[in-house]
Amino acid sequence: MKSSICFLNGRYLDTNDATVSALDRGFLFGEGLFETWRTYKGQPFGLREHLRRMAKSARALGIPFDPQEPWHARTRRLTRANDMAAGSAAVRLTITRGSGPVSLIPGRAGKPTRLMLVRPLDPKLPEARMRGVSIHLMRCGRGVQDEIRQIKSLNYLPAIIGKQRASAHGCFEAVYHLDDGTVLEGTTSNLFVVKRGTLVTTPVAEGLLPGITRAMVLALARRLGPVDERPLQIADLNSADEVFLTSSSIEVLPVTRIGRRAVAAGRVGELTQELERRYRKRVARSLGMPVGDLGD
Ligand SMILES: Cc1ncc(COP(=O)(O)O)c(C=O)c1O
Repeated sequence: MKSSICFLNGRYLDTNDATVSALDRGFLFGEGLFETWRTYKGQPFGLREHLRRMAKSARALGIPFDPQEPWHARTRRLTRANDMAAGSAAVRLTITRGSGPVSLIPGRAGKPTRLMLVRPLDPKLPEARMRGVSIHLMRCGRGVQDEIRQIKSLNYLPAIIGKQRASAHGCFEAVYHLDDGTVLEGTTSNLFVVKRGTLVTTPVAEGLLPGITRAMVLALARRLGPVDERPLQIADLNSADEVFLTSSSIEVLPVTRIGRRAVAAGRVGELTQELERRYRKRVARSLGMPVGDLGD
């Protein structure tokens, strides 16, 4: 592996030398959480919201996590150490319950593991933003998964399978839907549809991750026009005027194809573009820099 610097349990190390215990419950059972935030010129955006979401999920799983630790300073140090402070990057914080017994009941597990990694953004993003991307629909189940999806846990097997299937179909993202045709979200993104000027997205309560970008985009959209949070159906997708995805890394990303079928005229929609602009303005204002300095 190409070497880079990571933060592991208080130390900055070469990723090739950074190791966790073979008994780490994140490794054995996926008992842990993660958050990914984006940096612009080395500065994290939406960090408070990401830490709040992680703290809430950590409480739900009973994993100790302190959002007051210097995550901001660590993010800045990590981007500098990896020569990524001049442009944009994605920083991922992973926490696990730490090492403990090989039993589903954790008992007295050791100290939580905390790992931070930084990576460059997908180099294809600027072009994808101009042309729009395609999505692949993928069935998923109800049940305990509904609850799990609301927590950004390490159990990302459906997302891994989804991304691989999407890629095999030449698509950027896979979007989960239920047997009854309800469309939930992407493997690592939330999904919006524009229909006759109204922005529609499935409510979080249907069993999707409360995306931080989703919430920000909803707030921006409410100032522009009607917004409807209701369970989206596949039929809504197929008859949409515009479709887009959101996440911290991709921001607002237009979707111009569902499989091989074009969304409306197959061009990036107007409301999508307006929300892209407003989201970037929001980021720039929050980081105290001109929009032009945000980079791609
Ligand atoms: C399942 C899922 N939905 C939505 C998102 C988007 O969330 P956010 O806007 O907080 O990055 C993610 C992010 O990775 C995700 O994994």
